[in-house]
Amino acid sequence: MAPAIRSEIRFLLNGTEVVLTDVRPDRTLLDYLRLERRLTGTKEGCAEGDCGACTVLAGRLSGSELVYESVDSCIRFLGSLDGRHVVTVEHLKRPDGSLHPVQQALVDFHGSQCGFCTPGFVMALYALWMREPAPSEKAIEKALQGNLCRCTGYVPIVKAAQAISSYGDLAADPLYQERAAVSAKLKAMRDGARVEIGKGRHRLVIPASVDDLAEVLEAQPDATIVAGATDVGLWVTKFMRDIGPTVFIGGLEGLQTIEEPDGEIVFGAGVSYTSAFDLLSARIPAMGALLNRIGGEQIRNMGTIGGNIANGSPIGDTPPPLIALGARLTLRKGSARRTIPLEDFFIDYGKQDRAPGEFVERIHVPLPEKGARFAVWKVSKRRDEDITAVLGAFNIKVEGEKVVSARIAYGGMETTPKRAAAVEAALIGRPWTLENVEAAMAAYPNDFAPITDMRASAEYRMLAAKNLLKRLFLETQPHEAPLQVSRYEVA
Ligand SMILES: Cc1cc2nc3c(=O)[nH]c(=O)nc-3n(C[C@H](O)[C@H](O)[C@H](O)COP(=O)(O)OP(=O)(O)OC[C@H]3O[C@@H](n4cnc5c(N)ncnc54)[C@H](O)[C@@H]3O)c2cc1C
Ligand code: FES
Ligand code: FES
Repeated sequence: MAPAIRSEIRFLLNGTEVVLTDVRPDRTLLDYLRLERRLTGTKEGCAEGDCGACTVLAGRLSGSELVYESVDSCIRFLGSLDGRHVVTVEHLKRPDGSLHPVQQALVDFHGSQCGFCTPGFVMALYALWMREPAPSEKAIEKALQGNLCRCTGYVPIVKAAQAISSYGDLAADPLYQERAAVSAKLKAMRDGARVEIGKGRHRLVIPASVDDLAEVLEAQPDATIVAGATDVGLWVTKFMRDIGPTVFIGGLEGLQTIEEPDGEIVFGAGVSYTSAFDLLSARIPAMGALLNRIGGEQIRNMGTIGGNIANGSPIGDTPPPLIALGARLTLRKGSARRTIPLEDFFIDYGKQDRAPGEFVERIHVPLPEKGARFAVWKVSKRRDEDITAVLGAFNIKVEGEKVVSARIAYGGMETTPKRAAAVEAALIGRPWTLENVEAAMAAYPNDFAPITDMRASAEYRMLAAKNLLKRLFLETQPHEAPLQVSRYEVA
């Protein structure tokens, strides 16, 4: 049965219910807050998800649980907020004018100078405090990877973060106390309807379900699918691109499932990095460590694995390790589904094996075989919040002395994420020795002809790619001290 149609979006903004009937698909939450609501506490620094000055909280129902996550309002589209609770820094103001514990801690520990970044830090720390009232330094650093401060320096901010609970009890926090009431309001907003607003290139659709999404895309195959908007948001804010009719899928619970049939994990395409983190870290620790190096917390709360794949970028971080693991992709068009090896999805730069009206529905990720060595390393100029120059992923099994299987894939080396077929062939069937690894390193030019760009030269990329294989070998050898380059390598 076709769902009912609603021609408005509804959400909670701080303490007020908002209903909007006129929403352009490319309207950002930040512009709405600052220009229409005059809630100017939320700042614009970079308008590309990097600096965190625009951080607000987005509350969503996950099952019956109300979860608040930090998000970058500069690249979050207003249309994606249907059924959510948006909390801005203004909501922290107490009736008696006193500061919120997060704010008071920042004042007392001198965690602010010019103050431009401060509302963003406050909101990122507020999200952390609600999750972990006594966070470790590592947890604080992780929560603040997506917040940049140019004048204060981070030590006072981290100290303030550690002291928040001494300024107030979480149980007494208004957002904590209002949970039941907010959950009830968000539940009441879920009417199972499809949202349709606007016409032509300004048409915005929020499907009622995954089946409904399939129908919507069949009828309008040229529509832009928006999941977390961490890529599409920049098409608007940086490239001024017209994204045309738009279908928002970020709220579809049917795309946010995580299942664990025998020997694999099956992610719905709309699972965010944050939602995938716990299970991936437990089953494939190297993947958890990699997720910690994707964007900052706000980006990981918004960005999806399906979006990372569908975007088809040669420097997307999840495709190479997923290819090395032998992942498969289920694509759906109408009621027809097909499942293909992930590596076959990437045809050429900007060209994927996806027909008009088709969407990514599921990603099947096999766990590494017993006894196999799985590793993934991202090489970038900065540890945190940087884009890959070269990323290598290895899934190698050695039995006795010999390599019995090898799946190796790279990002940043070619126009698509790609397997190192010649290197794999040079390893398989041979003893796992330094001599043979060095011989396989000579096979890299048969697989890759990297380019030079602002991130790295072709020579650097080639050398780094080869050395990652050597690193894998060295790590499998007995050594006195563990090799560790990043504190995030251990989740
Ligand atoms: C500050 C910042 C830092 C970043 N850092 C990293 C990083 O370290 N590593 C990295 O890999 N990426 C990074 N990214 C890029 C981005 O976060 C990822 O590519 C993300 O996974 C995209 O997912 P999304 O849900 O936000 O996709 P969206 O932006 O919503 O969509 C991306 C593309 O996929 C399509 N799409 C989305 N879902 C589907 C679907 N189910 N079926 C078919 N098509 C679909 C969209 O139409 C669009 O073409 C960063 C981005 C920002 C802004
Ligand atoms: S303004 Fe910089 S992340 Fe949004
Ligand atoms: S206090 Fe000035 S940018 Fe952080």
